[in-house]
Amino acid sequence: DTVTSDPRHDSAIKHVTGRAEYTDDIPEPAGTLHAYLGLSTRAHARIRKLDLAAVKTAPGVVGVLTEEDIPGENDVSPTGLNDEPVFATGKVEFWGQPMFAVVAETRDAARRAAQQAVIAYEDLPHVLDAAEARAADYPYVTAPLKLERGDVAPALRTAPHRLSGQMRVGGQDHMYLEGHIAFAIPGEDEDVIVHSSTQHPSEAQHMVAKVLGVNSHAVTVNVRRMGGGFGGKETQMNLFCAVAAIAAKKWRCAVKIRPDRDDDMSATGKRHDFVIDYDVGFDEAGRITAVEGQFAARCGFSADLSGPVTDRALFHADNAYYYPNVRLTSHPMKTNSVSNTAFRGFGGPQGVIAAERMIEEIAYALGKDTLDVRRANFYGTDDRNLTPYHQTVEDNIMPRIVDELEANADYRARREAVLAYNASGGILRKGIALTPVKFGISFTATWYNQAGSLVHVYNDGSIALNHGGTEMGQGLNTKVAQIAADAFGVDFSRVKITRTTTEKVPNTSATAASSGSDLNGMAALDGCEQIKARLIEFAAEKWQAKPDTVRFADNQVHIGSEAVPFADFIKQAYMARVQLSAAGFYKTPKIHWDRASGKGRPFYYFAYGAACSEVTIDTLTGEYQLDRTDILHDVGRSLNPQLDIGQIEGAFIQGMGWLTTEELWWDDEGQLRTHAPSTYKIPLASDRPRVFNVALPEWSENRENTIKRSKAVGEPPFMLGISVFEALSMAVASVADYKTCPRLDAPATPECVLMAVERLREGRA
Ligand code: MTE
Ligand code: HPA
Repeated sequence: DTVTSDPRHDSAIKHVTGRAEYTDDIPEPAGTLHAYLGLSTRAHARIRKLDLAAVKTAPGVVGVLTEEDIPGENDVSPTGLNDEPVFATGKVEFWGQPMFAVVAETRDAARRAAQQAVIAYEDLPHVLDAAEARAADYPYVTAPLKLERGDVAPALRTAPHRLSGQMRVGGQDHMYLEGHIAFAIPGEDEDVIVHSSTQHPSEAQHMVAKVLGVNSHAVTVNVRRMGGGFGGKETQMNLFCAVAAIAAKKWRCAVKIRPDRDDDMSATGKRHDFVIDYDVGFDEAGRITAVEGQFAARCGFSADLSGPVTDRALFHADNAYYYPNVRLTSHPMKTNSVSNTAFRGFGGPQGVIAAERMIEEIAYALGKDTLDVRRANFYGTDDRNLTPYHQTVEDNIMPRIVDELEANADYRARREAVLAYNASGGILRKGIALTPVKFGISFTATWYNQAGSLVHVYNDGSIALNHGGTEMGQGLNTKVAQIAADAFGVDFSRVKITRTTTEKVPNTSATAASSGSDLNGMAALDGCEQIKARLIEFAAEKWQAKPDTVRFADNQVHIGSEAVPFADFIKQAYMARVQLSAAGFYKTPKIHWDRASGKGRPFYYFAYGAACSEVTIDTLTGEYQLDRTDILHDVGRSLNPQLDIGQIEGAFIQGMGWLTTEELWWDDEGQLRTHAPSTYKIPLASDRPRVFNVALPEWSENRENTIKRSKAVGEPPFMLGISVFEALSMAVASVADYKTCPRLDAPATPECVLMAVERLREGRA
């Protein structure tokens, strides 16, 4: 069966041979111009003068764009809050904010000319991080959320044990291999076609229409594939699409814009860093009785997706654990920094790590194995199963996943070995941790949980399929093609998925929230089933057979005892004037969410996983290595095990990078100083675990009626990287005989590990 077999990624060969076409590979029409952004060099300032005379006269320059050249609205905010101008006017609110664009004959000329602007600023006070913003009474960029159940204050007061702490959790740059890019080609009248590397073609279309002041029907956005998105291209591409389109219409030429890596990193949003305060009550067994949590996030100068991101942090602040009494509050803080955005996990990881830190603290306070405390707090199956947002956990397979991983990874014996190794008191110390993840699947904005498809069967029997999702390397097109091939009972090679375009499927959602195959797979299946229903009716009539004897399998259509090759059958259906095209649709059932009351069922289901990591640290330098990781991650009934394992490995490594070496650092003036791979360190091949075992629980299937009973895979395994962080924590704790839980902030860079070791040696946490 084509669905459960696993063809490789449909573009795998093209990726590795350089033949996969990205936006920058599209042949440019003669006379294509190139745009470049002029960025602010202040975190918060009034613009006293913006003198572009030298920019305009620089070699190769065709002209400049400022706010005055925008025919429609000067806004690309995805929220409707109108808080994100294309070009700053009057004042700038972060270092790196676009102020103008220059258009020239070559990209190099445009980039050099952009440096020639003469700008006079009047500095205003700036605030950079979330804690500072709270202290300074800076505003929220969007309304905060509160989730509450039970009675927290008395439960905390009467708890047998109580502890509180603060954790700083760093942000993360997306570091997609292909940076932002947009390429606009003007058409007649108001029309414009924009090729772009975007996870959200429909939103880019609507934004371009808004800045041009035209109808959405005049704008087409196309994306064949991205060289990685990871959430960084969910809203952040809007700006580039807008600038390219404005310039293309103004000069009636094709215009391309592609910032270099430093500008891409300075001018576009990242994962939110958080400052989390927690207060937790627990009993002798380590069971949590009450939790109070405050989640403050650095949102940057505008809302962007900070509302749903900070909401999701709260939705995941329980991770896999039952809190009998709980109050969680978000603080989406405005700051004078780039507007932070979606990144794999979307606030969830920041919530999950807070839960894991609380568990660690409890375990150290009671002198227990951290895994025992984790297990003591897992959601139950019949009771103890209500989340802080009042959704019942119905399909709790966490205990089984953890039991199996514990056995397969030989956790207990290895933990004993680690303790024995550390007991010898050497310079090198080891740590091991087994951490779980439970992740809610669905967009919490309920209306986003819809998708469309367009399926054509050509009269030679080949199938062209379009859906609203975008391909960013995750293998979505492969999975959807498998689903269509399976529906028609034909070989995978008979199905072609063409580029994503707003012309074929309208009003799509971002390919985000791990929902790509859940939503688009179902929409594609619906399109296929509509065509099949017509084909069955045709066959039943022509062959005088019962409809339920018609089957699509083995590249044939079986009608009773007859079998007709698929292509011949389709030709006959065409001759009989059967409609061979259909638009499919899907919307996720059962979900609802009332943000005001903090109650509902925001998630259709949960995905579960667990990882066990072992590390060695050098207590003289803080350097570390990852010795071994074992993962058991639930993808329901896998649509494609090969792709799913690739997603799990990639997500784990990216999560580990977030918590270990990837450090964003702004100077006091608000300039991001880690704006290139030279200063911002993502994991290398040499940082991967020396032993890396990834398995899927073969027995798992989604109890909800998802596509082929699979589960989403894109984001959940990201949080398995937390096992590395907690293993580092244990290795550090060994220097003070595990008496104290080290106060580790993320990322735990070697520098931070070293400082944590020294603090413990001085008798501090
Ligand atoms: N895998 C690759 N190779 N490249 C990516 O950009 N993005 C991740 C994940 N896996 C990403 C990836 C993110 S953030 C999400 S939400 C999902 O893929 C989106 O795709 P899906 O919903 O089809 O899984
Ligand atoms: N992830 C999770 N939830 C979301 C996202 C995402 O990227 N975008 C909007 N809601």
